[in-house]
Amino acid sequence: MTRVAKKKWRSKLMSAEDAAKLIKNGMNVGVSGFTGSGYPKAVPVALAQQIAAAHERGEEFQVGIFTGASTAPELDGSLSDVYGMKLRMPYQSDPSMRNRINDGTTTYVDAHLSHSGPQVLAGHYGKMDCAIIELTAITKDGLLIPSSSVGNNVSWMEAADFIILEVNSWMSMGLEGMHDIWYGVALPPDRTPIPITSAGQRIGQSYYEIPFDKVVAVVETDSPDRNTPFKPLDEDSKKIAGYYLEFLEHEVSKGRLPKNLLPLQSGVGNIANAVLSGLLEGPFENLTSYTEVIQDGMIDLIDAGKLVAASATAFSLGPDYAHKMNDNAAFYAKSIVLRQQDISNHPEPIRRLGVLASNGLIEADIYGNVNSTHIMGSKMQNGIGGSGDFTRNAYISAFVTPSTAKGGAISAIVPMVSHHDHTEHDTHVIITEQGLADIRGLGPQQRAKVIIENCAHPDYKPILLDYFERAVKSANSQHTPHILTEALSFHSRFLETGTMAL
Ligand code: COA
Repeated sequence: MTRVAKKKWRSKLMSAEDAAKLIKNGMNVGVSGFTGSGYPKAVPVALAQQIAAAHERGEEFQVGIFTGASTAPELDGSLSDVYGMKLRMPYQSDPSMRNRINDGTTTYVDAHLSHSGPQVLAGHYGKMDCAIIELTAITKDGLLIPSSSVGNNVSWMEAADFIILEVNSWMSMGLEGMHDIWYGVALPPDRTPIPITSAGQRIGQSYYEIPFDKVVAVVETDSPDRNTPFKPLDEDSKKIAGYYLEFLEHEVSKGRLPKNLLPLQSGVGNIANAVLSGLLEGPFENLTSYTEVIQDGMIDLIDAGKLVAASATAFSLGPDYAHKMNDNAAFYAKSIVLRQQDISNHPEPIRRLGVLASNGLIEADIYGNVNSTHIMGSKMQNGIGGSGDFTRNAYISAFVTPSTAKGGAISAIVPMVSHHDHTEHDTHVIITEQGLADIRGLGPQQRAKVIIENCAHPDYKPILLDYFERAVKSANSQHTPHILTEALSFHSRFLETGTMAL
């Protein structure tokens, strides 16, 4: 049965190829999609084919692409394979997209996720021409039901001159009622408070308002979301999760956290997902979550009855869990709320609720500064995503990482970060498989000792300690001792020799 049930919307039905022809060289296009869910599956592929054909004819054809966050091969992959993007904003994680960003073909603006929609509405990127938004259904009553992510869709549809809808019948109708779309977000000076006082609270409606006249095409699809499976839990991830759990139990025992903790945020990536799995074994009940993505680990926590309310903007599920969600969406809609990302990631509710954040990192330095985005200070990995939104505003902000990368050739703890995403002021706890550094309330030199002692890998501990001790004795030893000519020596050694080790 068709998912475009309301007759008047059927008048806009079109093939993906014809819809893609409405997009011209130089246009700015806002698309739905957030960590592999809810992205349009057909029009971007058709657009990529048209771009490739134009390039073969020697014509210029590139567009600006604005998303919620990372998408999937059909979108970031297909458009970057044909060198079709002049601009990309915000977070991405596609290997081909990463190449285009790092070879300079595509200008990448790595905005905070909570800023990305408002920045477009404020006109920082010029005009938005088109929005391509995936829906679950247009009901016979004319309700427009969102699909598996909300992301920036409301902002894109408001900003765009015209809208293309993809209605994907792969999405479960059980998703109806899971979304919370609040039309109260406005730019300053017209902003009003976001009235969220608990993680699972609904403040809006479960469907989009989309002006009929702005919609130029409705394309029917039947395609699954494509998410990358999480890596199986290894011993190190289990240790990291164990340390975090111990820390949370300690905070409860000191009376600094309630027994059911505070709303949890869990970042993208394997380690963050492992931390959630750790909670499954832990003693905490009636947990809540105010986060950006619903990961496999959260589904397990809901199934176990441990997580009672989860707020996010999208699913970030491995393939098995995505199917499980699709089969049981109506059940999960009782405990999951999907919101716009300028609400899920907004500093206001994050601060108000006292979120407990845990995010991955590329490297941290001995003073607690964090690089989440750049390899060796230069190569973009994914982007800052929502990590800045959450870490700056969390009640307790933890970073979780293996102590080494690339088979031990890279230390995650370095004298000075080679790129700066989160400052020492935003870092409260760092956890590796070696241990946990609680750096709250410590000065820089105290922090350095605890981070090196508790978090660095034994292969790197002596050279980090040696650097720190010599920096303390150096002529430049003041509040935060550094030997500036050596601060990035771990990185330059890796670039020269292939290892940071001596
Ligand atoms: N140098 C070089 N490569 C590094 C590295 C370093 N210091 N640290 C990690 N990597 C590489 C890993 O080797 C791995 O590469 P591979 O995919 O080729 O195996 C990749 O980065 C991912 O690392 P992994 O250890 O599997 O961790 P992860 O999946 O938890 O991801 C981040 C870590 C930092 C890349 C990821 O958390 C991220 O993109 N964070 C920024 C956005 C964010 O935090 N969003 C959450 C907001 S809600």
